Amino acid sequence: MKNFLYDIGTKIYFGEGQIVHLPEAIKPYAQKVLLVYGGGSIKKSGLYDTVTRLFRENGIQWQELPGVEPNPRITSVNAGARLCREHGLEGVVAVGGGSTIDCSKAIAEAAAYDGDAWDLVLKKAPITKVLPVFSVLTLAATGSEMDCGAVISNMDTNDKLVITHPDARPKASILDPTYTYTVSAYQTAAGTADIMSHILETYFSRVSTAGLQDRMAEALLKTCIQYGPIACNDPANYEARANLMWTSSLAINGLLFLGKGTPWSVHSMEHELSAYFDITHGVGLAILTPAWMRYVLDDSSVDKFAEYAFNVWNIPMSDDRYAMAREAIDRTQQFFTKELKIAAALREVGITEDKLEIMAEKAARTLGSAYKPLAKEDVLAIYRACF
Ligand code: NZQ
Ligand code: ZN
Repeated sequence: MKNFLYDIGTKIYFGEGQIVHLPEAIKPYAQKVLLVYGGGSIKKSGLYDTVTRLFRENGIQWQELPGVEPNPRITSVNAGARLCREHGLEGVVAVGGGSTIDCSKAIAEAAAYDGDAWDLVLKKAPITKVLPVFSVLTLAATGSEMDCGAVISNMDTNDKLVITHPDARPKASILDPTYTYTVSAYQTAAGTADIMSHILETYFSRVSTAGLQDRMAEALLKTCIQYGPIACNDPANYEARANLMWTSSLAINGLLFLGKGTPWSVHSMEHELSAYFDITHGVGLAILTPAWMRYVLDDSSVDKFAEYAFNVWNIPMSDDRYAMAREAIDRTQQFFTKELKIAAALREVGITEDKLEIMAEKAARTLGSAYKPLAKEDVLAIYRACF
């Protein structure tokens, strides 16, 4: 295991009704905040009314940035950062899914910067100050509620890139599973696939951890496999929603990958799909993951896949490790397509083959240190296997 510092500075208020703690979480940091939300789900559910009532009752002043897009755009980040500067806001409160939280983090990073926030994403300018971020999570998926990354899209250049800063990790997040009752089966399935992908991206690592983090990863994967379909079919099942929500946070907050490194592969390939075709992140991951697994299965990885087969899918131990591995990959694909009912092929979600070359080239830029290093031709082969 490599050396690491474990310092997850996000206060989690977990459970039904925990929203009452939002003001006390914000007030040590900010009296005037930017309230950021998406396309209206929080107005329909009544959460908007609850949050603004709590603000009023507790003397928190606020401005609003509504309409954050799924796959949040740099234009929204710039609009939010401008509001923070104009009104001297001291914090950013995200109420929504990963897109809203990511947009809020980037706003917090850009508030002190007068230029185009895209400069910060491209690292052309340094992030000098980050406003405190708070989140009220409404969709279990990205783990953005407890990590320090944000993924921002620029539709002019077809880029979808990660911006990170340790201070962008939310100071506090409200995790009330009942807020996810209204998430559609489609988004619940995509969110479950996203959580599983975050776990798999570091489970398949070349760094041996003597097992602890891998055993935790397997437990989290099994939790998704158990509760994802229940939440899709029975949206108000508290246990299922609660388990998915806490798993989403633990999958990517560092618990699983500190000491192991981050040899991520599938996310880079998916981010290109979202950047060019604006598809749902978790759906792209579910389609790509089995194809990636088949591509990287070789003598150097087969033992790891056999471990995955035995510990996650309960496939009996056998001397034929390749057979175990292949069955585990098939089971992974069947889970996504049959249990979660996610599309099986890129064509089904509107991806066309004309952009494959450029997407493969851009994805490969970050895949030199992936689990199995992938060059442009490798990525192309994986994309093509998904049609
Ligand atoms: O915009 P609203 O009206 O809120 O509707 C959203 C949106 O249409 C809806 N929704 C959210 N909560 C709901 C709800 N509908 C009904 N009831 C609720 N309670 O769901 C739709 C999707 O929301 P979005 O926030 O886009 O989904 P998700 O949480 O999956 O976030 C996806 C984004 O996060 C990035 C992805 O790339 C993508 O841009 N990621 C962020 C990561 C991070 N910060 O660490 C890591 C991930 O790997 C990922 O890349
Ligand atoms: Zn993801």
